[in-house]
Amino acid sequence: MEPIQIAIDGPAASGKSSVARLLAARLGFLYVNTGGMYRAVTWLALRRGISASDGPALVEAISSGGIFFDPGASEVLMKADGEDAAAFLNSAEVNAAVSVVAAAPEVRRILVAMQQRFAEHQDVVMEGRDICTVVLPRTPFKFYIHASEEVRQQRRAAQGLHDSISKRDALDQTRATAPLDGAAAVEAGAHWIDSTALSLEGVIGEIVGRMKDRGLVIDLGRWTVTRRPE
Ligand code: C5P
Repeated sequence: MEPIQIAIDGPAASGKSSVARLLAARLGFLYVNTGGMYRAVTWLALRRGISASDGPALVEAISSGGIFFDPGASEVLMKADGEDAAAFLNSAEVNAAVSVVAAAPEVRRILVAMQQRFAEHQDVVMEGRDICTVVLPRTPFKFYIHASEEVRQQRRAAQGLHDSISKRDALDQTRATAPLDGAAAVEAGAHWIDSTALSLEGVIGEIVGRMKDRGLVIDLGRWTVTRRPE
């Protein structure tokens, strides 16, 4: 049986990580935070003094064992140079450099292949910028979560994080390889959700409703999911 792949894209601080993590936990699916993977590579670059724009050097660092991504039961454990990266992924330094790292086509090629492997044999909720268009183009369960810039700025500020989200969005939208593009995601079949005035549960409710429309039977009492018989 084909695994169920839920793809979620959107700009920085749109709320997609909170939505994807909670949805995956409830459904018992693997949560794959692809932004975290680009962040772990960025942290490795910072540790080793590799320029964020040096794609070939980044690839060499990744493939020579600098990065370790282990899909556990519920989420992907990320290590750089053998050290758990979790505590460093949202630092101001990583925020400032991650979009430059993510613009390198060589880096994207490697990480996209890993992301596709994670989703090959298990049910996943995967979130990022190019999941609907590049990583999981064949899944019928695609979502693009948008929110006004004002609300996104407020969400980051409330988290106490220093993150220049408009600068990151601008870099992510204008890069040559797999740019962040809401219209392209919708064209690829993504359901557009404006989360500006929605709660976390509101967004999850909209996703679950859409998944039911697309052939899944979801028992909300037990949060079990099955495919509707053909
Ligand atoms: O999702 P998050 O904001 O943590 O992502 C951090 C950065 O990683 C993004 O600003 C973007 O540059 C990059 N990214 C990407 N493709 C993805 C996920 C994240 O380019 N699929």
